[in-house]
Parts: sequence; structure tokens; C-alpha cells
Amino acid sequence: MISPNEPNIQLDPQGRLKHFLTIEGLSRGLLTEILDTAESFAGVSERTVKKVPLLRGKIITNLFFETSTRTRTTFELAAKRLSADVLSLNISASSASKGETLLDTLRNLEAMHCDMFVVRHADSGAAHFIAQHAAPHISVINAGDGRHAHPTQAMLDMFTIRRHKGDFSQLKMAIVGDIQHSRVARSQILALNTLGAKEVRIISPATLMPDHAETLGVKVFHKLEEGIQDVDVVIMLRLQRERMSGALLPSEHEYFQLYGLTDERLEAAKSDAIVMHPGPINRGVEMNSQVADGPRSVILQQVSYGIAVRMAVMAMAMQTQGQGSAQ
Ligand code: CP
Repeated sequence: MISPNEPNIQLDPQGRLKHFLTIEGLSRGLLTEILDTAESFAGVSERTVKKVPLLRGKIITNLFFETSTRTRTTFELAAKRLSADVLSLNISASSASKGETLLDTLRNLEAMHCDMFVVRHADSGAAHFIAQHAAPHISVINAGDGRHAHPTQAMLDMFTIRRHKGDFSQLKMAIVGDIQHSRVARSQILALNTLGAKEVRIISPATLMPDHAETLGVKVFHKLEEGIQDVDVVIMLRLQRERMSGALLPSEHEYFQLYGLTDERLEAAKSDAIVMHPGPINRGVEMNSQVADGPRSVILQQVSYGIAVRMAVMAMAMQTQGQGSAQ
């Protein structure tokens, strides 16, 4: 998506994050800066008054053209904790449903002096398109586009892993499930490789594995028990039926028999391995409730850390507009 021959539109001339559209093309230093900045914001959630004045007077608009629970609400909370004014456009109740084009919607929001768009869209490349066409002062954050990228999800996952496991260079990681249709997996693989993870494995039935998956910088497995052997982190993914064309699986029951995570199967991983899932979980499909609610699951911590990580990304992007320090 980002051509090596073009300037990276995510960065301003000083190399700072202006838009956050994909992990691709970002340096280890910049990803680490996001994690460190999120660390400085994590304590805000523990305070009686859960707010800092960093983005007071700024307008952040959530443009969610696709359903979301975690991403939309944590972006909204994060913006409010930074003291920004937040607009959450209900797309199904907006004039987009009367035929208004995306660019006309943007122009109208720009006329209201918005400073940032947070965009979720079913089409890959939608956030990039908006960043290319928005007014120069506006920052665009990708909250998930098609099967392409979900960079803030990847960074909240990296934050969770770093909090539990520390140094990435010592870690073996397993990402299990519908890799083919997963924007989360693509962003996680890029982030883990950029941050120097020791080994990244992907585990999936052949029908849900992308062609030439090895070129992503991963080891490819088709058997769950083999793939999670001695790993430090197991990331389970949802079957993304909304992006599948045709029947790629016999049944969810059969999928669980082969790829569903249970306590017994988890014994193949390291004894202190953590279990992650970006949500929403389909219990009894990718994992059972014993694992989802068990002592090794950090799934709800991922959601909590999403607020601090999204605060960090928004604060850093606004910094490029001269709004002071993110710390
Ligand atoms: N992980 C994630 O993107 O969840 P939502 O679809 O609920 O935002």
C-alpha cells in the first residue's frame, strides 16, 4: 500500500507521525515512541479525574462506516481524556445514506474546523484516500480498513505484550486463525517484526492462509499444537465471515475441533504464555470460555490498554500541528 518510491504520507517533514494509516514504513524508534507515550498516559485512567488538557479546543471526528464496539468507544474515551471535543458521526443516520459522497462529507466536516478524522471502513485503502484528500492541517487515524490494516489494534497488542513479557527479542509469538482476511494479523506481523520479535508464527487452515505467507516474515503452520509449541504469546483471531466469499470451512464445529484453543491444547505453549484476542470473541469457535476467562487470558487488558495507546497516537499526531508536547 505504501510505495517505497513515494514519500511516506504518514510522516511530516521532521519525520513525526502526522497520520497513522499502517505500521508499514514506520521505524522501530517511532513504534517504541508510541509505546512509551502510551505508558505515560496509562496512569490517567487510574486518576479520580481521568483527563489531561493536551487537546483542549481540538475537534476529533469518529467516522465509522463499519460496525465496532471496542475501537470506536476507546477512541472516543481517549479523545475525551485528552480534553478534545468529540463528534461521532452515525453513518447510517448521516447524509451518506442519501447519496452524499465521502469527499463532500469530508468537506462539510472540514467546514466545522475538525482537526482529526478517525476512520473505520470496509474498503481497504479508505483511510489512506481520506488522508490524501483531507485539508492539510487534518490528521487521519485508521481504525481498520477492509482486510488491509488496523494499526492502533496492533499497537495496543504490542503494548500488552511489552507489559507482560518485556523485551521483544526474546519472544516467540503465534497468531492463530483466519490470517487471510485479518487486517489485525497483517498489522501485528509488521509491528512484531519491526520491534524485533524472535519468531513470529502464523497458524491456519490452508483455505484461510494468504498465498506466499512466508514472504510476510513468518513461519507458517497448519497444525495448532505444532504452531504453539513453546511460544510466549498466543493470539487468537476471529473467523471473519463478512470478508469471506464462498465456503472456506466445513463448519464452525469442525474448525473448533482442529483450531479452537482449550486448556489442554495450551499446554503445548510455555507455562507462562499469555492468550490474546482482539475481539469480538466467538466462544466455542476460536476458543472456549475456560481459556477466554482463564488466568492466562489478557483479553480485557488489551481493551483497557487501547485507551492509553489511542491517546498516545492522537497526541503524537496533533503534535505535528504544533499543539505542544505529548508527554
Ligand atoms: N478489535 C476490534 O477492532 O474490535 P471492534 O470491531 O469491536 O472495534
